[in-house]
Amino acid sequence: MLKYTVLVLLVGIPKLLLQAQVSYEAIFVSLTSEENSKPFDLSNLRLIGRERILNGTFEVLEDLDEEHFQISVEIYSNAARDGNFKLIPLSIPRQGLCTFFKKYGFYLRDCIKNGINTDLYVNTTSCLFPKGKYYLKNVTINVQNWPIIMQRGLCRHVGTLYKDDVQIGSYNITSSIEDRAPKYY
Ligand SMILES: *[C@@H]1O[C@H](CO)[C@@H](O)[C@H](O)[C@H]1NC(C)=O
Ligand SMILES: *[C@@H]1O[C@H](CO)[C@@H](O)[C@H](O)[C@H]1NC(C)=O
Ligand SMILES: *[C@@H]1O[C@H](CO)[C@@H](O)[C@H](O)[C@H]1NC(C)=O
Ligand SMILES: *[C@@H]1O[C@H](CO)[C@@H](O)[C@H](O)[C@H]1NC(C)=O
Repeated sequence: MLKYTVLVLLVGIPKLLLQAQVSYEAIFVSLTSEENSKPFDLSNLRLIGRERILNGTFEVLEDLDEEHFQISVEIYSNAARDGNFKLIPLSIPRQGLCTFFKKYGFYLRDCIKNGINTDLYVNTTSCLFPKGKYYLKNVTINVQNWPIIMQRGLCRHVGTLYKDDVQIGSYNITSSIEDRAPKYY
């Protein structure tokens, strides 16, 4: 009965309110890559201002498709913020780039929307990331679809890219998980 009531309550709450209940926010700390990483060049992206907004341009160095390109993602946590990152069991196993984008792309689209934050458009039918230079502007991390409970501290997503089964690059996105600043309405 309790379970049922909770379900009804949850279903009855508009998404906006649920979102307001996530008690943390995530702020960009850094974006790094192994030297000569492919297939993305992120060297012209900057984190700007107190709010660490991601801005600038990035380059997709060649057409990326499902057949030749794969990605895996590992997630690390560092509660003490001392650089001692621990792997947490939320890894995304290696899979085709398009399969990945179809399954997890909404995490990216929560933060980066075509026409608003970027001019990169990925057609999920033909499923190609076209080679080119694209802008990113005013990008912050939107945690609306992240787990309800997150360890405070540093969080690091490590994406490893493969072309024809050979590792070609590795990218780290480090963010800070902090108590959400209370908002008064
Ligand atoms: C990426 O993060 C991993 C795990 O913390 C670390 O071992 C590696 O040195 C980092 N690489 C870069 C380029 O920052
Ligand atoms: C943001 O990036 C764009 C390029 O996409 C650049 O023209 C603009 O000056 C940047 N803004 C800041 C505040 O750095
Ligand atoms: C997406 O790709 C499919 C298959 O190649 C194509 O038929 C369709 O027109 C494309 N859609 C857009 C919006 O480009
Ligand atoms: C940046 O995004 C925030 C919401 O994330 C929005 O309130 C603000 O108006 C945007 N600023 C610009 C210059 O687009």
